[in-house]
Amino acid sequence: MTEPNDTSSSALRARFAASLGGGGQSQWVGAFSRVPREHFVPSFYQQDENGRWYEVSEGDPGYLEAVYSDTALTTQLGEHGIPTSSSSEPRLMLTMLDALDAEPGHRLFELGLGTGYNAALASSLLGSDNVVSVDVDPDLVRLARKRLERGRYRPYVFAGDGTEGCPDRAPYDRVIATAALRRIPPALLSQARAGAVVVAPIGFGVAKVTVSAGGEATGRFLPVPAFFMPRRRPVKSPDFAGLEAQSGRATSVRATDLLDRLRFPLSLALPGHRSCSWRDEAGEVSGVGLWTEDGSTATVHVSGRARQTGPRRLWDTVEELASVFPDGAPAREDFGLTVTPAGQRAWYRGPDGPSWVLDGS
Ligand SMILES: C[S@@+](CC[C@H](N)C(=O)[O-])C[C@H]1O[C@@H](n2cnc3c(N)ncnc32)[C@H](O)[C@@H]1O
Repeated sequence: MTEPNDTSSSALRARFAASLGGGGQSQWVGAFSRVPREHFVPSFYQQDENGRWYEVSEGDPGYLEAVYSDTALTTQLGEHGIPTSSSSEPRLMLTMLDALDAEPGHRLFELGLGTGYNAALASSLLGSDNVVSVDVDPDLVRLARKRLERGRYRPYVFAGDGTEGCPDRAPYDRVIATAALRRIPPALLSQARAGAVVVAPIGFGVAKVTVSAGGEATGRFLPVPAFFMPRRRPVKSPDFAGLEAQSGRATSVRATDLLDRLRFPLSLALPGHRSCSWRDEAGEVSGVGLWTEDGSTATVHVSGRARQTGPRRLWDTVEELASVFPDGAPAREDFGLTVTPAGQRAWYRGPDGPSWVLDGS
């Protein structure tokens, strides 16, 4: 038991771990109570009311309270102040770790080492020798390795593209990704044992699939929303200027549908797409833009006109999707995923229901 007004790291951590557990039986709660999150997040970035980023470090007011709250903490900013690495929301981390159904001794591969916090949690339960984690950014790997060593965790960590896995340490019993993917990378499936569980953010959901022999896998999406930062890759800028010349066409799909009820299925129908929105002076959404890495672009205005340009007809896909889901937001757990050597498909309500091919990686 800790005193409610004790604000030391160990007291905050104990209360934090207990609150994550919510009285349940997760074996991972013990790991959250053992691993100090502040060792992995000595500072993070927050935005002020004008959207400007500022750094909060150990010793600053509110630092420790933020570290021991259920908040994703941005730890690295890239060009134009776009977050490129973070320590994810602890409750979502717990949900994903739980979904692995892992046991001490299982060998785990993680795509997205980031701060190293998740790798430390995994090492704490499964044993360092059983954890392999990769990040695309060598600077992050160097920092994470140092922080892991401080806690005497020694998982195998390296810099590289996690979609290629780590064949030298395969086969894996469990695979987790903490960056958003478009599909489950085939290399990770081929490095997983038959019966292995893979938990990975696909689109704006988290898929949990079980691998069977022959490179096949099947499973469902968890009910939770998830907005992980996308796997890093070069993306062409959206061609909004190219749309200006078009008068557009009438559409019955509302701009706001793309931001709420269709947001998850659209992340499966257009894997890896990006979006933005415009607001009027009253702060109401006036339009939404979508684009994919090949430069294809679509916009819709609240007046009900849509425009599209580029090799992929993005708005056609939106309208097809809206006809499958004419109203209401479909529940994530009604979606599933089937993987065969020929390809990957996300489906709704059953493998024979409406489905979308997941392409790219
Ligand atoms: C949400 S953060 C990971 C959080 C991390 N698991 C932790 O506990 O701090 C996502 C990470 O994925 C990494 N990443 C993005 N694309 C990647 C790729 N292709 N291969 C490996 N890591 C990648 C990013 O550099 C970023 O650090």
